[in-house]
Parts: sequence; C-alpha cells; structure tokens
Amino acid sequence: MSYFRIDANDTTLFISAAIGAPPSLLYWGARLHEAVTADEIALLGTRQGGPGNADVAISDSLALEPGLGLLGPSGFAAHRAGCDWGSQFNVVDVAQDGRRLRVTCLDPRTQIGLAYCIRLHEESGILTIGGTLTNHGTEMLDLNDMATACLPLPARMTEIIGFTGRWAGEFQRERLARFAGGYLRENRRGRSSHDVFPGVILCTSATTENAGEAYGLTLAWSGNHRVRVDTLSDGRVFASLGALFLPGEIRLAAGAHYTSPDIIASYSPHGFAEMSRSFHSHVRSHILTPAMRAKPRPVHYNTWEAVYFDHGIGQLKAIADKAAAIGAERFVLDDGWFGTRRDDRSGLGDWIVSDAVYPQGLKPLVDHVTGLGMEMGIWFEPEMVNPDSDLFRAHPDWVLQIQGVEQIAFRHQFVLDISRTEVSHYLFERIDAILSDHDISYIKWDMNRDHNHPGDQRGRPRSDAQVRALWALLDRLRAKHPKLEIESCASGGGRADLGILAHTDRIWTSDTNDAIDRQAIQHGASYFLPLEVLGAHVGPAHCHVTGRTLSMAMRAGTALMGHMGMELNLLTEPEADLAELKAAIALYKQYRGLLHSGALQRLDTPHYLVAMGVVAQDRGEALFSVTLVTGHARTLPDRVYFRGLDPARHYRLKLVWPRHRTARAAPSVIEALDLSTSGAIICGDALMKAGLQLPLVFPETTLLFHLQAAGRID
Ligand code: GLA
Repeated sequence: MSYFRIDANDTTLFISAAIGAPPSLLYWGARLHEAVTADEIALLGTRQGGPGNADVAISDSLALEPGLGLLGPSGFAAHRAGCDWGSQFNVVDVAQDGRRLRVTCLDPRTQIGLAYCIRLHEESGILTIGGTLTNHGTEMLDLNDMATACLPLPARMTEIIGFTGRWAGEFQRERLARFAGGYLRENRRGRSSHDVFPGVILCTSATTENAGEAYGLTLAWSGNHRVRVDTLSDGRVFASLGALFLPGEIRLAAGAHYTSPDIIASYSPHGFAEMSRSFHSHVRSHILTPAMRAKPRPVHYNTWEAVYFDHGIGQLKAIADKAAAIGAERFVLDDGWFGTRRDDRSGLGDWIVSDAVYPQGLKPLVDHVTGLGMEMGIWFEPEMVNPDSDLFRAHPDWVLQIQGVEQIAFRHQFVLDISRTEVSHYLFERIDAILSDHDISYIKWDMNRDHNHPGDQRGRPRSDAQVRALWALLDRLRAKHPKLEIESCASGGGRADLGILAHTDRIWTSDTNDAIDRQAIQHGASYFLPLEVLGAHVGPAHCHVTGRTLSMAMRAGTALMGHMGMELNLLTEPEADLAELKAAIALYKQYRGLLHSGALQRLDTPHYLVAMGVVAQDRGEALFSVTLVTGHARTLPDRVYFRGLDPARHYRLKLVWPRHRTARAAPSVIEALDLSTSGAIICGDALMKAGLQLPLVFPETTLLFHLQAAGRID
C-alpha cells in the first residue's frame, strides 16, 4: 500500500508512504468523504516540469532533504566530514496501528535512517509528528539541521500569524500576508523565549475566531528552535518546525540517534477558537497528568511582589493568616529563602535554608502555612548560579561558557551545565532534601536568563543537552515525589511550550500582573494553552511593572480567568479591597471546575474589547469575561455575541462580576434584565445571534457573565 488515510473529528490525513519512495503528506485538512481515494487526491495534484525548470516535477517529502533536488527550503542537513550530505530517505517499512503510523525510512547510500511517528488523535483531531534519525554508518555524522517535519499546506492559507513579545509582554500576535520566500523565526535563547513562541498559525484572510480555516502548529520543545513558512516559486507552501542546533551540537557516533521534538498541530475549519479547543483537549488528555486533571487548582498566594527579598518570618506568617482568611489554598514562598540570597546578586545555587533569615529553619513557616490548611510551595531556580555563591566558588567549572570569552551580564547569574551528571545530581539532591525535610508539595521552577554562551568545558555547545537534562531532572523529582506539582517560570512566560508542560503542571504566564496587559497576554496564550495552566495573579493596585493603577475588581476579574492567585502585600491592602478579593476568590472556587474543563470560546470583538468564555462540555453552563480595555469611539459599547451555547436551550444570564453597580447611567441592560440580581432567562439562540448590548461602563472594567441552562425549548 502506498497511501495511508486517517480520519479524526473534522480532519482527514493522507500520508504517502510507498516503499522505495520518500514519505510525504498528501493531504491534511477538512474531513473528506469516505469515498475519496488517495489516488484521486494524488492525481488531482499532478505537477509538471516546465521551461527554465527541471523537465519533471520534483516531489516533496517530510524532510525536504537535499537528495530530492527540490532546491527549496531544506528540513535536513548533515554530513560525514564533508561527504554523505545528499541523503534521500526512502520508505522501507510502514506500520499502522489505528490512528498511528510509523514510517521507517533509510538512505542506504549515506547509511542514515529516519523514522517518523505520525498520529491523528481521535478526540481532538490533533496531528502529532515526531522523528528519530539514526546513524547507521561507521563514521561520525554531523547533523546541522533537522526540522521535525516540513508540512505542505494549501496555498489559500495566505496569512501567517506569529507569536512574539518580550519580558512582561508575552504571546503578542502578529498577523501578516504570506510572501514569496521564507518567513523565519529563530530562537537561540536556550528556553522557548518571550519573543519567539514556538508556534505559528496559517489561515485565510477571512479567518476569524469563529469562522474560516486555520492551521496551528507548535513545537513541543523548551529550547532553541526554528519556525519557518516557505512559499516556493512553484506555489507550494511548507510549514517547518524543528529544534535549532548550534554548530557541532548534534554529532552522532556510529549507531547513535537523535530524536526530534514533536510537532503538535491542529486544523480547524471553524476559526481560531476551534483550533485552540483542539489544542486544549490534547493538553488535557495527553500532556497533563491525570492527577492534575482531577484536582481543583488551588488558589495561590505568592510572596514575590509582596515582600521581594524582605523575608521576615513574623511578616510572612501574618500574610499567610490573611491569605488563608480570604481563601488562599497554597502559599508559595518565592525567591530569597536560601543561602546569602538577600538580593539578586548572590546565593543562587546554594539551596540551603538561610540561617540568617530562618534561624529555626523553614519548618515553623511550613507548619504555620499547613496549619492554616494551605499547601506549601517554594521557589527554586535550579539551572542557575550566582558567581557570588558557595556553589560557584567550589565548582567554577560547572557553568556554561565559551572559554576565553567574557560572560554576558544577565541578572548577575550564570547557567549551570546540568547535562553533566554531577551537576544534575547535585541539584536533585538539594531539591529532594528540601522536599523530603518539609511538607512542601509545589515548586515554582524559575529560569531567569538566556543561554548566551552555552558551551561546556570541552568547548561543545550544550543547549540541546540542557533541555533534555532539564526534562530528565524534572521527571526524576516527580518520580521521587509523586504528589509534587511544578510550575514552569522563566521570568514569566519565557518557557511556556507544550514540551515543558509534559514535565510540569502550570505555567507562570507573565511577570506583569497588570490586568490590562494580562488580558492580552492570557488571550494570546489561550491559542495553545488551556486556562487552567495559566498562572494569573492579582497584583498590587499600582502595578510594579507598568506603573498603572487598576481597581481590585478589574485585577481580580482578570486573574479569575486562569489559575487564580495573588501576590500583593495583604498586610497593607485596604479592607474594602480585601473584601473584594475574597469575593472574587469565592467566585473562582465556584467556577473553576467549569473554567478548567470546559470549551474555550474567544469572541470576535472590536479592538477595545477582549472577550472570551468557557462553556461546559454539555453546554449546561458558561462563564464569559468581557473586558473594556479602553474607551470606545461611539456613545455606547457594542453588543457581545455569545458562542458555544445550545441554541435550543434557555439560559439564566447573570452578571456575576463586579459585585457592585457598574453601569455609568441607569437604567441600562443590567437593570432591564435584572442581570445583577435574579438574572434573565433567555434563549441560547438569541444570546448568540442577537447578542447582548453591553452597558455603559468605565474603561478598564471586566464584566463576568454566568449562564446556567434553565431548560430545553421543545
Ligand atoms: C522571576 C520570576 C518572578 C520571581 C523572580 C524572583 O523574575 O518570573 O515571578 O519569582 O524571578 O527572583
């Protein structure tokens, strides 16, 4: 058999994998009638040679390897001392197991093997592809480049959406028209980065949140990567994603292999929101652990923006009391508890409780926190070391560097070479000791600098090895401490990929707690990540990062639409704000089951609104957040058109947040429909098609609407 068909949900996939020929993706897109044959698809796509070009059509393949002679983008580059560079991978074996396909290829001339695992997931329609390259030769093989796969996409996808950003401004979307040549995003930061999220979307010019086709692709990799979209002069379009190697980084001895990170991809015929729902479903069913799926996400209290490095046990206990009183369920002790870490200039690496700050150790604080009924969490930044630390003084050779080249200053810290066994062993021992000696069940695992000079003692680049060592260290800790939960933080969302999520449980989405910024960041992150993994905290009224002052209602309403927490000094907060926060926490607890299991809906809105919601899988309940981030041009704001409801059911619609009157002039739709009190019973079809006129409210207001099914229409 030459062609393999897999269907799932709205999607059909045809892989061409004839023995003796390169494997390729023949079709990936809207589900096809079962009568459609691969031969038809192949013949419909017949290409030809032409003047000024080769006399024959040159086929593509999943690797776009040089042996094809395609002269377009290449997804593979390797050599043995300058030879054996012209591989062509022909299929030698195919094994199909339900919706999984294993395609094994070999180039007998260069003695390189390449095996793909391709899977279309039943529930979500998600496509995953991973590859393993093996050096079957007797000499060293230098692998310079390897995209996990190069996927041909329909040329009618004329637009590209990339994800960019910065520290405290992650997940910003950039939509542009596709052009001849290559769209290229490369990341060499040694983490998935704030500015080059490893993902891309291709769509038509008409695609919106809720209509039109979209292809979303992301790489499950927490390090250097390359995302490209190439438009060839013959009209073909390829999306290629893969890890990016530094020179000489991947050298395969005889018999050795390299495993590429998975591409996780989603096709949606119904807009971006549906694409995201597929990613979320995949994260929930295949990436998060069953234990995390089952456990309600506890409300966090995090000490960072409250006390920074000013750790006094009296103050922390008093904060813990207040946190518990307003509903916190987990207390996370952030940076500053260990070694000489009284500021960010020293102590990293010395993972021993500071005698100076905690003369009786951490136990009194941990006991106090757990005595209040909260779980205890703690901050580590294991991959790093300050030059001013006992660890560095003892092992100056443990850091990544290029010998003879000055280290780039970056938060006064260097990166440890955790791919060295003794280094990762040291970290395991230290972290394990803290966890074993205390009732601590949560780690905020931070990573606060790029890998500017990621070389080891022998001068070899170690970025790839660093990522694999990190994943292994996380897994080792999880195996030893099965109840441990880990948050992936990298100065906020600098390591927020689906690869790290397979080894952790939550993402610290961003270091900005500014609710206006957070609206955009959480909205952007939701393209790939479900709300339950997005750490979202209520920060101080006067945001430390942006200087903006926002109401508690706005801050709390924003944090509620994720995994809610807070990091402000509760000892100095006005009582009225504490009461407001307590009410928001209660609301979060009421709705977190829905928020963290339901189907995400993002609404198409004018630029001054951010609106999204979660609808229960049985459509019996929903919670929508509508935020006026700025003012609007006309006298009244627009209508919102809810999505995902059952058109044949009535819903009781209520405005559940803010608690206090919000309309600037009465009577508004709030009074007309009793939205703040008993609510109004309205048909789902009307809510979606006629929409709800928003009331006149101040800019920087978040409105939360709850919808409860109140009966079917017969
Ligand atoms: C990073 C994190 C913050 C905080 C500090 C502590 O910036 O993103 O949340 O933990 O480190 O130094």
